[in-house]
Amino acid sequence: MPRDLANPDLYTSEARFTMWQEYLQADAKVWSDPGLSPSGFWSVFSHRDVSSVLSPKAPFTSEHGMMIGFDAEHPDNSGGRMLVVSEGDWHATLKRLIGPFLSRLRAPELQSVLHREVRDVIDRLRSEDSTDIAVSVGPRLPAAIVCEVIGVPLSEREHLIDLTNHAFGGEESSFDRMTPAEAHTEILFYFHELIERRRRQPGSDLVSALLEDGRLSVDDVLVNCDNVLIGGNETTRHSITGAFHAFQAFPGTLDALHDDPDLAKPAVEEVVRWTSPAAHVLRVATADCEIGGQEILKGQPVVAWLSAANRDERLFPDPHRFLPNRAPNRHLGFGNGPHHCLGAALARLELHALLRELATEARGVELAGDVRWMRSNLVQGYSGLEVTMDWR
Ligand code: HEM
Repeated sequence: MPRDLANPDLYTSEARFTMWQEYLQADAKVWSDPGLSPSGFWSVFSHRDVSSVLSPKAPFTSEHGMMIGFDAEHPDNSGGRMLVVSEGDWHATLKRLIGPFLSRLRAPELQSVLHREVRDVIDRLRSEDSTDIAVSVGPRLPAAIVCEVIGVPLSEREHLIDLTNHAFGGEESSFDRMTPAEAHTEILFYFHELIERRRRQPGSDLVSALLEDGRLSVDDVLVNCDNVLIGGNETTRHSITGAFHAFQAFPGTLDALHDDPDLAKPAVEEVVRWTSPAAHVLRVATADCEIGGQEILKGQPVVAWLSAANRDERLFPDPHRFLPNRAPNRHLGFGNGPHHCLGAALARLELHALLRELATEARGVELAGDVRWMRSNLVQGYSGLEVTMDWR
């Protein structure tokens, strides 16, 4: 009986890496019957197959949804409106509007926020005997950067960061007696209110720019702010947490980064490959086609497992090893093709700042509890990583 790869329990332990290895070695294409994911789906795993599905020329669309759970009877409500689930002219329009806010050109403006947040992280780690990185470190930097980009005033930032942690942070759910779904609704209310304020008093932020363009409805602005919020937080936080995990699992890495500061750049790529927080993306075929010898029919969903492709030993020798100087490193952690991550430059900036500072201050990381993985087929991430630090 084939596995239902939608089952989130498959991803709560490192047994998933053995599963990926089996599929990679067999060059498998797996069909999961309708079950937890209403329409069923094909899965592909190899770097080659995943790249083929995501290539600009491939006959696939994101407009019906881009993650497991896709239901042909009830396609994604935001399809054709939200950047990550739109295609063609509208996708290009949104990319042109949102792209500049996430580009490398923002780096100089964001330096002071980055610097402050990284310092706060180090101070916090230094002040505690042990720290749960997944809960109190991972989310800080990405949330601060995303708030800056969207234009959330400083005084409201803590509130939004708390809500974001609660809405997407995994299992901890005691916050104000709200469920994660309620916290997400609260975030959308908040955006609604922010949009009204920016309409009256425009600033130099993303919300103001989207409103000013005139082509987006209030709902369009809202769903695209949500896209940036989720895209920016729910991936980067796990790469940051995973960097600490890698430094623990591969002792000596922080010393290598300390001795050669130029190593930080390739190490950032290796963090994204090794952690692969976006576990999969889904596409729906717009025509009958073939991927790696498997016939795919028009209308069928295909899941491209980025987390598996990033451990494909045909591309990455010794794939489970964290090699800060791995080269080449053509990972697919940020996806590929037209929807390649628009925030990749910001994610790299955040990771780079953190790695440089950590290598200056710390020699090593030790576990102070079990690694706890999120119960999710979408986000390969941590719900807990309690560590102690070894300082220089
Ligand atoms: C798209 C991963 C950080 C904003 C994507 C996609 C992936 C991804 C795999 C492609 C989705 C698809 O093909 O359907 C990651 C990872 C990150 C990261 C691993 C961190 C390590 C960020 C940040 C932001 C961001 C910091 C913004 C602040 C976006 C947006 C898209 C996107 C707006 C949609 C692009 C489009 O559809 O054209 N990301 N991301 N991401 N990401 Fe990221």
